Amino acid sequence: MRLSVRVFGRAAQMLEYYSHFNPSPLSMHQFIEFGKKSSERASFLFLRKELPVRLANIMAEIHLLPETLLAMPSVKHVQSWYIRSFQEVLDFDTLDPDRPGVLPKFCEALATIRNRHTDVVQTMAQGVVELKESHIVDTQTENSIQYFLDRFYMSRISIRMLINQHSLLFGKELNGNRRHIGSIDPSCNVLSVLKDAFENARFLCEQYYLGSPDVVVTEHNAVNPGRAIEVVYVPSHLYHILFELFKNAMRAVVEFHDPKSSAPYSPINVVIVKGKHDLTIKMSDLGGGFPLDNLELLFRYMYSTAPQPPMPESDGAPLAGYGYGLPLSRLYAKYFQGDLKISSYEGYGTDAVVYLKAVESEANEMLPVFNKASSRHYVRALQASDWSNSLTPSKPLGQVRAL
Ligand SMILES: Nc1ncnc2c1ncn2[C@@H]1O[C@H](COP(=O)(O)OP(=O)(O)O)[C@@H](O)[C@H]1O
Ligand SMILES: [Mg+2]
Repeated sequence: MRLSVRVFGRAAQMLEYYSHFNPSPLSMHQFIEFGKKSSERASFLFLRKELPVRLANIMAEIHLLPETLLAMPSVKHVQSWYIRSFQEVLDFDTLDPDRPGVLPKFCEALATIRNRHTDVVQTMAQGVVELKESHIVDTQTENSIQYFLDRFYMSRISIRMLINQHSLLFGKELNGNRRHIGSIDPSCNVLSVLKDAFENARFLCEQYYLGSPDVVVTEHNAVNPGRAIEVVYVPSHLYHILFELFKNAMRAVVEFHDPKSSAPYSPINVVIVKGKHDLTIKMSDLGGGFPLDNLELLFRYMYSTAPQPPMPESDGAPLAGYGYGLPLSRLYAKYFQGDLKISSYEGYGTDAVVYLKAVESEANEMLPVFNKASSRHYVRALQASDWSNSLTPSKPLGQVRAL
């Protein structure tokens, strides 16, 4: 395997070896059963194989990225973190789990890895910015990068999920909430996560604009009429999605509002519906929407129409401006076979619809697999359009933000 950050000896061989295995997606149901019944030993035996497979799969894909991107300092950083973490998991490859100290050491190694990878999203984004500042990026490269980032960040979500489950179940940082199984809440109350996300988005909105819209929520439980809507889910994932959607909706409402008008901001309307298969959350705002032509851009990393916020390490989280809100939220939704769709009614408002699987046995992890089909996305030549008036030659990507 050719890597821009050089790996030698056993690690290189093992990378090659593990990249030929497909990751094993788990269902939410399996995560729950595993969390309830399995021992630390069994989890260790699973992870010491599955983590290298997932790491090697995505590392194999990194090296198909354009040379110019691989040469960027931030991308090299990210690659070196992955190689280091891969080696650290591999150190447990042949250790006897019954030898005293091995299992606690594994927990420590996982904590180190998780901390090392905390800033992967920002650093990779920084790498793309470095590329754009130093090179002209054509549409084909742009598409490859978008394709890669979706897969790369999805892989990261999945690896963190595995690490979190093990650490929360068996490590020092046991989850304080007794109902939870690792990071999963078997009775995740959608409304209460939604309220949290709303309050925190509202806090940012008030800081930025000195005002904010209200929210009106309607629940419709088609499975257990009249009962609160609950789902087996990772509350932090749902929170992430809803927080991003609220921030976007609030910004749109406030900016669309006529400053001369004394009328209050139009409220954000949310409908939560639980059906037999889908749990759907529709968030509607009257923030003026956007032109249909921009729809595809919304899910592009770093597409934003907000002013550039300060660097993430400076104080306070910004309301908008990195352009990562929607693409990452859609990945969180898709991770357990859900989705996120946006419809705009330009001049009026926007609907954002989150779909989650209502039944845990249908909520399987969605994981990128490295194979010939995925490789092709990085080399396919720009194809001529077979429709008139379609998007070629490419449109400018609008405003591209530095992190
Ligand atoms: N509810 C909405 N109404 C109007 N425009 C929106 C809405 N949600 C998102 N957008 C547009 O999509 C862009 C990208 O959103 P996002 O990915 O969350 O990044 P950011 O909020 O950092 O700009 C926003 O800058 C905005 O132009
Ligand atoms: Mg946003």
